[in-house]
Amino acid sequence: MSILEEKFVLPCGQILKNRICKAAMTERIADGNNYANHFHTSLYEKWADGNIGILLTGNVQVDKRYLESAGNVAIEKSSYKEQIPLLKNWAEVGTRNNTQLWMQISHAGRQTPGELSIEPLAPSNVGLKIPGVKYGKPRAMSTEEIKDTIERFVFVGKIAKDTGFTGIQIHSAHGYLISEFLSPDINLRTDEFGGSIKNRSRPLMSIIEGCRNELGNDFPISVKINSADFQKGGFSSEDSIAVAKMLNKAGIDLLEISGGTYEQPRLLGLDNVSINPDRSEIRKESTIAREAYFLSYTEELKKLIDIPLMVTGGFRSKVAMEAAINKKACEIIGIGRPLCVDPFSVKDLLEGKINQLPAAEKTLSIGPGWLSLKSPFRLIQALNAFSIQSWFYIQIKRISEGLNPDLLINPFKAFRIDGKNNKKSINNYKKFNG
Ligand SMILES: Cc1cc2nc3c(=O)[nH]c(=O)nc-3n(C[C@H](O)[C@H](O)[C@H](O)COP(=O)(O)O)c2cc1C
Repeated sequence: MSILEEKFVLPCGQILKNRICKAAMTERIADGNNYANHFHTSLYEKWADGNIGILLTGNVQVDKRYLESAGNVAIEKSSYKEQIPLLKNWAEVGTRNNTQLWMQISHAGRQTPGELSIEPLAPSNVGLKIPGVKYGKPRAMSTEEIKDTIERFVFVGKIAKDTGFTGIQIHSAHGYLISEFLSPDINLRTDEFGGSIKNRSRPLMSIIEGCRNELGNDFPISVKINSADFQKGGFSSEDSIAVAKMLNKAGIDLLEISGGTYEQPRLLGLDNVSINPDRSEIRKESTIAREAYFLSYTEELKKLIDIPLMVTGGFRSKVAMEAAINKKACEIIGIGRPLCVDPFSVKDLLEGKINQLPAAEKTLSIGPGWLSLKSPFRLIQALNAFSIQSWFYIQIKRISEGLNPDLLINPFKAFRIDGKNNKKSINNYKKFNG
């Protein structure tokens, strides 16, 4: 039997049926009111039949005003009651076959699209630099707003538990709000939420404390952090280790390691794409050579903390996944994009029908040569990166509609279709929210 099929007991006592987790992928299929709907149910039904130990939801937002995308699910105190039956349906299908369904909880911070907020919230008023995409200049949060946001995270955690989700994950990676607090180049505050890494971690640690008190000791609580932001003067691997040590003391059940932000999309393995090149930092060569992008970091981290680790990004072959667990770099393997190409690919891998998950991202391109990701032109690189990401959004939407993924669609066409879908979601959002 492969080690990937072995059960795993979390510190809280809950048991995972195997070592694979579907990583969080934003679904962008909610209606204008940002409620979960039958598309979520239909999507997670497929994944729950795919023999995956944990299904992490896409980022569920704690504040409707600051979404990652207009099609996000958001849970608000003022309207959550209406949403409870829908969330219960989602949880019911997502937990079938003894699958864990964990809600990823997030706040987009300064990465809220400009169409949704011209003045998003952030630790400080440091704006995002992305050519061709509109992001508002953020406003530094007041102490009251920080406290309100911490309460919102805990509230959404409680709703997740009450509606049948079997765990939660706090999204503290990829340049969203909680990760912005951790980054010294984005968080310039001089109060108790800025300066030392202890202060910058305060919002995250307060959320964990609040969630543990509210949800109890036997409910899985996970956190996703970056190994680094890969920005000069930004969140470093030393910072990341310091945060992991604090989480170790706080007692969480699973720490997921990723890396990068919108400006440095290393989470997707895009080492040659630097959306904001004046601030980029090169990833270490040893990491580039590996199949999984953040494994060398977790090998080191593992020696310093006891929390079970999950690594996400790049895993495609069964051998590499087994080797990572066997050499104790992590306990759980996170898988994202292959599950958009084939929702049952993990099942096939565990049953020995295939040895390699589909790696569509390696061949996708808006065109050959200088039009590809390897183009010397930064704008073309960025266009490829956005188009490839759209290609995966399109597949998620198709699966949620009961269709098969369309693997032959050109990424540039996917980019245009996704743009239209997004516009429709924005219009619906505006209709509901005035
Ligand atoms: C379409 C798409 C949506 C994503 N949405 C999220 C998200 O909501 N939350 C999150 O933490 N990561 C998100 N990610 C990042 C994935 O969780 C994962 O870290 C990344 O895809 C690398 O893993 P992979 O190489 O197995 O795909 C997303 C990635 C993709 C491709």
